[in-house]
Amino acid sequence: LTADFDYAARLGALRRRMIDVGVDLALLSVGSDLPYFTGYEAMPLERLTMLVVPAERQATLVVPELEAPRVQARPEIFDLSSYGETDEPLQLVSNLAGRPATVAIGDHTWSRFLLVLQEKLSAARFIAATPLTKSIRLVKERGELNLLRRAAAAADRVVGRLRLLRFSGRTERALSAAIRTMTVEEGHDVATFHIVASGPNGASPHHEPGGRVMEEGDAVVVDFGGRLSGYCSDTTRTFHIGKPTAEVAHAYEALAAAQAVGRASVHPGVEAQSVDRATRRVLIDAGFGNYFIHRTGHGIGLDGHEAPYIVEGNGEQLLSGMTFSIEPGIYVPGRFGMRIEDIVVVTATGVEELNQSSRELLLVD
Ligand code: GLY
Ligand code: MN
Repeated sequence: LTADFDYAARLGALRRRMIDVGVDLALLSVGSDLPYFTGYEAMPLERLTMLVVPAERQATLVVPELEAPRVQARPEIFDLSSYGETDEPLQLVSNLAGRPATVAIGDHTWSRFLLVLQEKLSAARFIAATPLTKSIRLVKERGELNLLRRAAAAADRVVGRLRLLRFSGRTERALSAAIRTMTVEEGHDVATFHIVASGPNGASPHHEPGGRVMEEGDAVVVDFGGRLSGYCSDTTRTFHIGKPTAEVAHAYEALAAAQAVGRASVHPGVEAQSVDRATRRVLIDAGFGNYFIHRTGHGIGLDGHEAPYIVEGNGEQLLSGMTFSIEPGIYVPGRFGMRIEDIVVVTATGVEELNQSSRELLLVD
């Protein structure tokens, strides 16, 4: 992570929530909570990395000795404790833990570590840390929004370049590799995924690009993203090689209308599920309800998929500063697929749309 954030304030917010709900200790391992609260992103190694956060005392970051040089020391936020290859890091964690009654454990903790910790801290009740960390990470800070804006703009530039390419005669795999390269060229640090799903393959929302050669008459779903200073982009555009049939054009019209309604339904105070309902309603009314087989969207930040989930059953209210995708799709098995995906930010008055590339069915050769 190159951006600098106020990690002390973030840990302070975590401690306040821990105290509010009676949690004595939070244990956060690999995954995005760690960079969010410390600025340190651990490799997801088999060795233990763990941020030990007592509600009322200084935190300690436990890392393998060989990783310690990568940690930027922040003594005002955490002590650093490294262990050698033959040490027992879980004993170290247990010593730091004291005798907690309630321990919040991060989702991204290998189960073999949790099993040992449950034995060592046998008097403690273990609960999930994610509801606590999520409540802080949900609303993005200004610096985070700026990185998400930059990542989305870089993704939009890739779409602009794709519109100039000839799709016909290329394999999905070759186009996917080109997208990976362009995602980095346009400003991401890394490309994280690059789906190309052509013709009937488009009916599988997360299709693995393969050897299928694209041809005239294909709709091609292109869904890709990367990370820029830790923050993710994720956008989908649907291309069409040559002129679409009336059936495809009609479906696309319904899809574009649904996606626009979804974006327009975003306001602070509305429930996450109401954005899903508004989007889905358009597709149901147009006769495509059964072909929209996933939620309308997911939050995005340090993780490509995080809270808030824009899905039926999620009554969470949207707050200014939340960021998520709006990505309805139509998937007709054996025939074709299409999806439009943008990242949006809830603002004080409505919505800011981070992706600005054309949402039309993009005609290519
Ligand atoms: N791309 C759809 C989803 O993962 O929700
Ligand atoms: Mn997405």
